[in-house]
Amino acid sequence: MHTPDLFAPLPDDAARLAELRQTLHEHAHRYYVEDAPTIPDAEYDRLFKELQALEAAHPEWLTPDSPTQRVGGNALDQFAPVRHAVPMLSIRTETDTTASGAENFDARIRRELGLTEADPPVQYVAEPKFDGLAMSLRYEQGVLVQAATRGDGETGEDVTQNIRTIGQIPLRLPKDAPVVLEVRGEVYMRRDDFETLNERQRQKIAAGAKREKTFVNPRNAAAGAVRQLDPAIAAQRPLSFFAYGLGEVTPPEAGGPSFETHFDLLQTLKSWGFPVSDLVKKGQGASDLIAYYESIGAQRDSLGFDIDGVVYKVNSLALQRQLGFVTREPRWAVAHKFPAQEMLTTVLAIDVQVGRTGKLTPVAKLAPVFVGGVTVTNATLHNEDEARRKDVRVGDRVIVRRAGDVIPEVVSVLLDKRVGEPEPFTMPKTCPVCGSAAVREEGEADHRCTGGLFCSAQRKQAILHFAQRRAVEVEGLGDKLVDQLVDRDVVRTLPDLYRLGWRAQAEVLAISQEQLATELDAAKRQELALSTLAEMDRMAVLSAQNLLDALQKSKLTTLPRFLFGLGIRHVGEATAKELARHFGKLDAIMDASEEQLLEVADVGPIVAQSIRAFFEQPHNREVVEHLRACGLTWPEGEPAERAPTHLSGKTFVLTGTLPTMGRDEAKALIEAAGGKVAGSVSKKTSYVVAGAEAGSKLGKALELGVPVLDEAGLQALLQGVAE
Ligand code: IVH
Repeated sequence: MHTPDLFAPLPDDAARLAELRQTLHEHAHRYYVEDAPTIPDAEYDRLFKELQALEAAHPEWLTPDSPTQRVGGNALDQFAPVRHAVPMLSIRTETDTTASGAENFDARIRRELGLTEADPPVQYVAEPKFDGLAMSLRYEQGVLVQAATRGDGETGEDVTQNIRTIGQIPLRLPKDAPVVLEVRGEVYMRRDDFETLNERQRQKIAAGAKREKTFVNPRNAAAGAVRQLDPAIAAQRPLSFFAYGLGEVTPPEAGGPSFETHFDLLQTLKSWGFPVSDLVKKGQGASDLIAYYESIGAQRDSLGFDIDGVVYKVNSLALQRQLGFVTREPRWAVAHKFPAQEMLTTVLAIDVQVGRTGKLTPVAKLAPVFVGGVTVTNATLHNEDEARRKDVRVGDRVIVRRAGDVIPEVVSVLLDKRVGEPEPFTMPKTCPVCGSAAVREEGEADHRCTGGLFCSAQRKQAILHFAQRRAVEVEGLGDKLVDQLVDRDVVRTLPDLYRLGWRAQAEVLAISQEQLATELDAAKRQELALSTLAEMDRMAVLSAQNLLDALQKSKLTTLPRFLFGLGIRHVGEATAKELARHFGKLDAIMDASEEQLLEVADVGPIVAQSIRAFFEQPHNREVVEHLRACGLTWPEGEPAERAPTHLSGKTFVLTGTLPTMGRDEAKALIEAAGGKVAGSVSKKTSYVVAGAEAGSKLGKALELGVPVLDEAGLQALLQGVAE
């Protein structure tokens, strides 16, 4: 008699299990790779739990490619070595960071292929050089069986457990994938994920965790996560992946795929579920490579992840085979580096600088170092807490970073290179320039000099701020000259710029400057100013005359420029523009109450209070009156009609790269329509605008049910055609 096997799976369960795995694989791909999930996180979790329950009821059905198996396994003592079936090569680096780097490569390829000028340009693929670590993913029968680091190229380490935790890496491939497939690519950490991780680390440290540390950069954080022996910890370190090549693959004669070009190969990898960067482009000849180098270089700082250059590859696989290898490097590829953004140097001293508003900033004076394309000798330490947190001391070897136009900063100290025990940094109790007390307000990170305009450093900064291009613009009035004018007491306040020599002259005649004004005609003023300037170091007659012309020219300005130039705390260019538009006239702004100021878009309580406080000070009003008396003018207008505000009260968060609009542009358009742009997604966010390579903000939006727009959707909203 046939006894039913009580433990045999019910056919219904088996079918459901297969269905759940398939569904979860699909959604994981949409979420992690395409950044375009189609179900809410809660629904994903529900399906996931259902699968977990089924697998718990039928442990014999558990397979390593199940979506539940991303985190699992025990902590290891060490990683097992993996011999690569196909070595993981390195790639030649072109360090000439000018366009000729690309030309050299193209010329070499043409020479080696025996091409003449009459031959057509070579077809290339250009890719970002991702700044992470190389990984080889081995799939057998469509299932991820092993992930290995590069190691020395011949033998790497088995980090499969950790790599499984990366949501972007498929555990299982579609049916059309070959029997054996090794995908090579880069494991990296996105910048926003890195920031979040470091923030979490800082909190743990603040809460007393002794063995935690923050990470220097995304690459180090990624490397640390991959080489983490405990996969549960690795799972908490958010990693990403880009595929860029192949290792061992079932050969075509055994039924494996056959590709003609590198580009096709990447497209196929994409169709199998691997992330391939949208920034990978086809091109031909040196000119396209140069254009690519420049375009990616320009986008470098706004990408969601770090890159350290670009990689050029010959597109035709037949030509790649023809070109072959030199020792351990393929002849058909080259890495063209960007200027390094991080370099090592030595701290020579730590100075404290005084800013326009009295803010004291500790600044590390550095042995000159070429970083981010310029020679850097100063790096900000921001404030006392930062300087102490980083524990920068005189004589230390430090990593300095300069990315884009951002001011250089000290990333970290190489503590093991410290010699002796230099003193830790402390903030001085008094202003290093004027000796006034330096105070740190409750809840503030900054120390401030309390000297106000008594402090010559603050006066100098105030003058430079007023004279800068974006404010009233006095061409040729640089810091060296301002130093002298202030140090020799020629200029004390802004109006003195237009009254050069008056103070000394009035003293000689023992009259007030106002009386002097009535005695000086235009020619005498000119003469007095010229002779005063002539006494300054390095001031020739011509440059003195040029400066006077520039001062004259600066007198006709605009209200926003003038307002910004006054240097009211919290009033930047954008706020100055809004104030000018809203009130039309300077007097209206000077007399506006806090309530009236709050009606201006862009002005919140702190800004309103700061404007009020500024104009309540008689000496500030006096500066304005004297500047007017010196001839400064600007066209005034009527108070603005109510601005277009159909997006007022709406908050937007931007993530990823939009197809045509720059981030700044999108922000400006949203604000012009009355909306606000915030940095992080919360329940209060009205819309998330997501572009290519959107990050975790998109995930958060879906989680919270915040509507997500693409560029077209945003355009429609801006034009008021959608709700
Ligand atoms: S191709 C045979 N493509 O750069 C060519 N490498 O030495 C193999 N890398 O550590 C490399 N982005 O991990 C290639 N788009 C890219 C890359 C890339 C980053 C890394 C790679 C390796 C180094 C090259």
